[in-house]
This record gives sequence, structure tokens and C-alpha cells, in this order.
Amino acid sequence: MIVYLNGSFVEKAAARISPADRGFLFADGVYEVMRWYDGRLWETEAHLARLRDGLLKTRIVYAAADELPRIGRELLERNRAAADRMRLYVQITRGAALRTHAFPDRSTPPTVYADVAPMDTSSDELERGIAVITTADQRWARCDIKSTALLANVLASQLAVEAGAREAIMLKDGMVTEASHSSVFAVANGVVRTAPLSNLILAGVTRGVVLDLCDEHGTPAREFPLTEAELRNADEIFLAGTSCEVMPVVRLDGRPVADARPGIVTRRLQEAFAKRTRAVRTST
Ligand SMILES: Cc1ncc(COP(=O)(O)O)c(C=O)c1O
Repeated sequence: MIVYLNGSFVEKAAARISPADRGFLFADGVYEVMRWYDGRLWETEAHLARLRDGLLKTRIVYAAADELPRIGRELLERNRAAADRMRLYVQITRGAALRTHAFPDRSTPPTVYADVAPMDTSSDELERGIAVITTADQRWARCDIKSTALLANVLASQLAVEAGAREAIMLKDGMVTEASHSSVFAVANGVVRTAPLSNLILAGVTRGVVLDLCDEHGTPAREFPLTEAELRNADEIFLAGTSCEVMPVVRLDGRPVADARPGIVTRRLQEAFAKRTRAVRTST
């Protein structure tokens, strides 16, 4: 497999990153995951805007984010992969330097890595829904930054796996923040609810698309703090993310969500989401 590293396209096995890289030493980096739908990189501008925002907030200097879609396209070509059911992973760290906590010399170039890999959302899970657990949100106070420092997310995700579930919804001070790698929505009395944007959650691109679809279809939606009790009593729960799209949750901590079948609002949003990705397909 060919990957991109600091301006070159190389075999993954030949890609070398220094042990002095601050990504390795401090998780001092940001990343982004984008996805192709039938030839087109989905929501490119939103993903790039979030990446630029993360770079700004972490003060990592990398001015060529606009180049990433072209790099992604070249990765597909070099790996002879079709631009569908594939994702582009990008990671930018503050570069390699002698280990001290504060920033290295300004002349230190960032480390820029990208690769492509298959990404498909299970149609079976989209149809039947998934089981999730809840767990304490043990993350830091800048979850708005898509940082590579994901240890708390990793631990939460592993708890889900060990419980036979697919995702872990995180709770902080009795409120729902988000899941280990997706945004959380609940539906009660026909109103779609999700946590408001703050330093406690990532501004999910799919979250934004879902809210936009609610708007377009006249489905009432509120970005308003969601309590644990509201989550447990919700008529419907679904997750949103680049990898899971609009994913119904049918079991929460081993108990059924309503009748343990994807709800009607979730279904409508899934259809609208699929239609929008199809629209991308036909606009090529
Ligand atoms: C913590 C977290 N929240 C939400 C999301 C969903 O974001 P997006 O829709 O941009 O993929 C992700 C995606 O990886 C995530 O890691």
C-alpha cells in the first residue's frame, strides 16, 4: 500500500517517522477522516475547515490543507482504488524535535501523513440498528479539537467491545456529550435532540448534515443539553459519524430502546442522508 508522508508517496512499510516525533511522544497532533461516495469526497469543505480550525487551536503550522483532496486522489490512483467505499485519513503533528514539552523551534516542519483504506457502513447494522453502552466521559476539556490524543476514547470503545456493543456513549456530570467516535442524537416526542457545540464535543460533520436535513425536512431539532435520564427515556436514539452514517441504536446498556427497532424519525433521516449521498454521486 502506498501512503503519503511529508511530500512523498511511499510504500507503507518504507514510511519512516522519527521516534522524536511529537505525535509519538505527546500525541501532539490533529487528524481528519473523510470519505468518498462514488467518486466524490464527501463534505470536503466542512472537513477541511475543521482541520484548519484544529491546526489554529493547537498552533500547529501547516498551510497546505487545501492540497489534501488532491493528495487523497493521488493515493487512490497509486493504490488502484476506486473513489467509493474508501476513506482518507490525514494526520498532522508538530514534527520531530528534542523532547521538551513546549513547542520546538519554529523551523521544525510538521509531519504530514495520509493514507486511504476501505470504509463501508454495514447495511445490516443500518437496517437493524446496534447496541451501545454508556460510560463516563473521562476526556480533557478541549474535545472540540480533533486531536490524536484519543486514549479516553480508546478505553471507552474497548469497554463497548467487551460488553458486546458497537459504541460507547459518554456521560459527563449527568449529561450526554458524544460517543467514542460518533455524535449522539435522541428523539423524544418527535423532536430531535443533540448536545450543543462546546469544548466538550467535536463538531461532527455528519452531525451538521443531520441538523441540516432536519431543517430541510421540517423535522424539529434542538441543539440543547441532553440529560442521561432523557437519553434513557428517549423514543429513539441514533449515532452520526463519517463511518457509521446515521446509525440506529436499538439497545442501550443491554436494555431495549423503545421497541428495540429503529424509529421512524431515524428512518426518515437515514433515507434523507442516503439521498444526499446519492445526489453527490449523480452530480459527478
Ligand atoms: C469523538 C467524535 N465525535 C464525533 C465524531 C463524528 O464526526 P464526523 O461526523 O465528522 O465523522 C467523531 C468521528 O470520528 C469522533 O471521533
